[in-house]
Amino acid sequence: MTTAQTYAEFAAREARGVSHAYERLSSAVSGDDEMLALLDNLPPAKRQPNLLFGVVRFLGGPVEDPAAFHDYTVANWPLIEVQMRARATQTNEAARCAVLLPVLSMLPQPLALLEVGASAGLCLYPDRYAYRYGDRKIGEGEPVLDCEATGLIPPTTLPEVVWRAGLDLNPLDVTDPADVAWLEALIWPEHAHRRARLRAAAAVAAADPPSLLRGDLVDDLPALAAQAPVDATLVVFHTSVLYQVPAPRRAAFTELAGRLPGHWVSNEAPEVLPYDDLPDPPDDAHHNVLALDGRPLAWTRAHGQAVRWFG
Ligand SMILES: C[S@@+](CC[C@H](N)C(=O)[O-])C[C@H]1O[C@@H](n2cnc3c(N)ncnc32)[C@H](O)[C@@H]1O
Repeated sequence: MTTAQTYAEFAAREARGVSHAYERLSSAVSGDDEMLALLDNLPPAKRQPNLLFGVVRFLGGPVEDPAAFHDYTVANWPLIEVQMRARATQTNEAARCAVLLPVLSMLPQPLALLEVGASAGLCLYPDRYAYRYGDRKIGEGEPVLDCEATGLIPPTTLPEVVWRAGLDLNPLDVTDPADVAWLEALIWPEHAHRRARLRAAAAVAAADPPSLLRGDLVDDLPALAAQAPVDATLVVFHTSVLYQVPAPRRAAFTELAGRLPGHWVSNEAPEVLPYDDLPDPPDDAHHNVLALDGRPLAWTRAHGQAVRWFG
């Protein structure tokens, strides 16, 4: 796919109906030869719309008006290029804990949580957030994670977590204002509620910062898993990570995760972690599949806003 096609596709399939600003920007970039030539100087993985738009927002540039965006980006390209080469799309969505909670609460307690692809580790605190499944609320304080739950009785208790650790190629630090600003810049412009949730979750995590190891989800997982306390149930989990991992490494990871002690919880798109005989998804929106030990259990919405248990 050319860079022009990538941006046209992003406008039509990802941004339309979700972010008017990004739909317009992406569509404009797809027909902007000057911008496309700049982007094509970057390695293919660094040309993606979310990275460009996130960096421009991080630097304080305009993203509402395509003409202003063009002028800013061309004028500031050297700075933008440095940031695009240095940064990655590492959106960390604490609300994904709301779709993990039903499966975490089914497991023998207490839990030792090990998240691969943890970003800043915000999904390592499922026991510290509050949840609202319809009219049922669990937990206290902020953030309150709203989730539409269908086909299951929502959990009534929070998990007991006695150990938590994360692994990421590039861990972000919730106590570093620049890293939190980058996470905020990755949230699409219209999604103010997600930025508020990020700040609340980052405050929870910053009060007791997670132990995050820089490393690869295949090469470095066994050694980290070996550090988990033996008297807790080890849960290796990941959400919205495997699309960033090349197919042969995905296969190596799933083989490894399936044979580690404890349990393996995955929440990934079926295109990257496929299963036989999945029921039809509820609608055309992007969905992940929640699975326990390789057994698919439910469709989940990408930002944790809904979980639909298989019948
Ligand atoms: C889109 S973010 C998702 C973060 C978090 N799991 C969530 O759901 O909010 C994907 C994360 O996976 C990490 N990642 C990608 N490939 C990885 C690998 N081979 N080993 C470890 N982490 C990886 C990225 O650095 C990034 O932080």
